[in-house]
Amino acid sequence: MFYPEEIIEEVRLRNDIIEVVSSYVKLERKGRRYFGLCPFHNEKTPSFCVEPAKQFFYCFGCNKGGSVIQFIMGIENLDFPEALKYLAERAGITLPEPEDSEEKEKSRIRKEILDINKEAARFFFSVLASKNGLEAQGYLKRRGLTEKTIRQFGLGLAPAGWNELTEKLLSKGATSGLLLSSGLSVRAKNGELIDRFRGRIMFPIFDIRGNIVGFGGRVTDQTQPKYLNSPDTPVYNKSRELYGLNYARQSKSKKLLMVEGYMDVISLHQAGIDYAVASLGTALTQMQAWILKKYAEEVIISYDSDSAGQAATMRGIDILEKVGCKARILLIPDGKDPDEYIRNNGPEKFKNLVDRAISLLDYKIRVENKMHNLDTVDDKLKLLNSVADILAAHDNSIEREIYSKYYAEQYGISLESLVNEVAKRRKKLISANSRPMTIRRSASLGRGSQASVKIDSRYGELEYMLLVMLCNDNRLFERVSAQYGPENFNDPGAKKVAEKLYGRLEQNKNCVLAELLTDLDSNTASFVVRVAETKCDLADTEKAIAQILNKLELLKLEELQKQTIERIKNEKDGNLRQKLGLEFSKRAERIAELKRLA
Ligand code: GTP
Ligand code: MN
Repeated sequence: MFYPEEIIEEVRLRNDIIEVVSSYVKLERKGRRYFGLCPFHNEKTPSFCVEPAKQFFYCFGCNKGGSVIQFIMGIENLDFPEALKYLAERAGITLPEPEDSEEKEKSRIRKEILDINKEAARFFFSVLASKNGLEAQGYLKRRGLTEKTIRQFGLGLAPAGWNELTEKLLSKGATSGLLLSSGLSVRAKNGELIDRFRGRIMFPIFDIRGNIVGFGGRVTDQTQPKYLNSPDTPVYNKSRELYGLNYARQSKSKKLLMVEGYMDVISLHQAGIDYAVASLGTALTQMQAWILKKYAEEVIISYDSDSAGQAATMRGIDILEKVGCKARILLIPDGKDPDEYIRNNGPEKFKNLVDRAISLLDYKIRVENKMHNLDTVDDKLKLLNSVADILAAHDNSIEREIYSKYYAEQYGISLESLVNEVAKRRKKLISANSRPMTIRRSASLGRGSQASVKIDSRYGELEYMLLVMLCNDNRLFERVSAQYGPENFNDPGAKKVAEKLYGRLEQNKNCVLAELLTDLDSNTASFVVRVAETKCDLADTEKAIAQILNKLELLKLEELQKQTIERIKNEKDGNLRQKLGLEFSKRAERIAELKRLA
C-alpha cells in the first residue's frame, strides 16, 4: 500500500458512496438500499444496489461489489492510487507524496510534461501574436474567430522552422527525454530532435482541470495531413479526453453537444453555445460516454452527415445507450458542419436545430430510409422489415407505439400488421436475451493494483461470512475470537483481513466492512460483498455465528480425518497405529455431534 491507512480511510469516509455513485448511476431508494442500472454490465432492470449504511455497492446481476474506492477504480478504469487521488481531490483532501518510488517518478514525469506543455502553448501564442503570425491571424479572422475566442482557447502558431521550440525548451533546461515523451519533439533521421509541429495553427487540448495535455495542429493550406495531433503520452489519452469539456462543464445548460472537430467547438462556444465538446477525430469511446453521462442529463450528437459521420453517429448512439445516457441527434441541413452552419445562418438558427434534434429511433429509421429508394415493392418490403426490426429492439413501449403509428401511416400500411410484426420480433429478441447470465469481465472493471487472490473454495465463504458478521456487530468479537483466532483461518485473503480486524477490535476500536474492502483486490472485494449481501443478512446473528463456527470445525475435522486415514495406512508401528485409530474415533464422535447440531 502506498498511502498510510488512516489517509485511505479518511478519503473513503469523506466520499459518501451514494453521492459518488449518483453522478454515474440514477439511483432510486427501495427500503434501506438504493437501486439503479448496473454500470458494469448491460441490463434493463436494476439489480445494482448501494447500501448507504454500510457504504458499499453490489450488483445482484454481475456480482460486482466493493467500497467507494473500488467503484471509482471500476468505473473510471483507474488503479488504486489513481482512484484514491481522484476521490481525495473530490473531497478536498491533500494526499501526502506517495512513498512508492515508482509512483513518485510517474507523477513527477506527468508534472514535467504538463509544465513543458504550458511553456509550449505560451510560445505558440506569442508566435501567433508576432509579426510572423500575421498570415495565420488573417486565416483565423477569415474563419470568424474573435481575439477573445483566440485567447480563450489559447490558439497559437508553431513556427515553420525545424526546431525553434525544441531549441527554446532545451535552452531552458528540458531534457531530450522529456521533449520526446511530451510528444512536442520527434527524432529526425539524422538523430537530432526537431519540432513535431511546424507551420501549423495550434490548438491546445485542455483536460477537465484546465491542464494542457496535448495539442492539435492545423495547416492553413491544402497540405496533408490537415491536422496533426499529439500522440498519447503519460498525460494524454485521446480515448479519454473531450475537447472543450473544461468550459462546457461550467455551462448552465444540462445538455452537452458532441461535435467532430476543434473548429466546431470553438465557433459554437463563440456563438454562445457553450456546452459543445468534441471527441477529436476518434469515434466516441465508452470512457468518453461515461464522462459525458457524468456531466450532462442529455447528449446531443451532431456529427457530419457524410458516411463516416453517419457511421460514427450510429456507433456513438450504441455506446451512449449502453451506458444509459439520454441522447438525441441533431441533423444539419445540406451536410454542413456546425461551424459552417453557424457562420452562414447565425446562432439562433442553430439553437432551433438543437431544439429539433431527433430521437435515436427516428434517426435509425431515417438512415434506413435513405438506403432504399422506394420504387419497387421489393425495396419497400425490405425497408419495412428493417423498420420493424428497429422498432422491436426499442425498449420504450410508448415510443414504440407512437412510432409504429407514425410509420404505418407514412408507408401506407395498416397499423395492425406493423404492430404484429414488431411484437413477433420482440418476442424473439427477448427470449434470445434471457439466456443464463454470464459474468462479464470487461476491461472497464478496473485494473486493481492489488493482484487478484484466489479464494479458497471450501473455507473462503464461511470465513468471510464470519468476518462480515463481526463487522456488522463488533460485540460478537469476544465470542468469535475465543473459538476462531486469525491463526485458524485457512483462506489466505481472509486470514489477512482477520489479522487487521482482530487487531482493531482487540484495541476496542471499531471497524466496518467498507474499510476492510478497500484493501482487497476487486475480485475478492466483489466476492466479500456478495457474501455480505446474500448470506449474512440474518435475523439471529448469534445463532448464525454458532452455525458457521460449527461448519468450519466440521470442515477442519473432516480434513484431519482424511489425513489420519492416510497415516494409518502407511504406519508400520502398531502402537502408533492404535493411537491414531483412537484419535480417529474420538474425532468421529465430535463430527457426529456437529452434524446433529447443524
Ligand atoms: P476545419 O477543417 O478547420 O473546419 O476543422 P474541423 O475541426 O472541422 O475538422 P474536421 O471536421 O475535418 O475533422 C474533425 C476532427 O478530426 C478534427 O478536429 C481533428 O481532430 C480530426 N482530424 C481531421 N483531419 C485530421 C487529420 O488529417 N489527421 C488527424 N490525426 N486528425 C484529423
Ligand atoms: Mn470544419
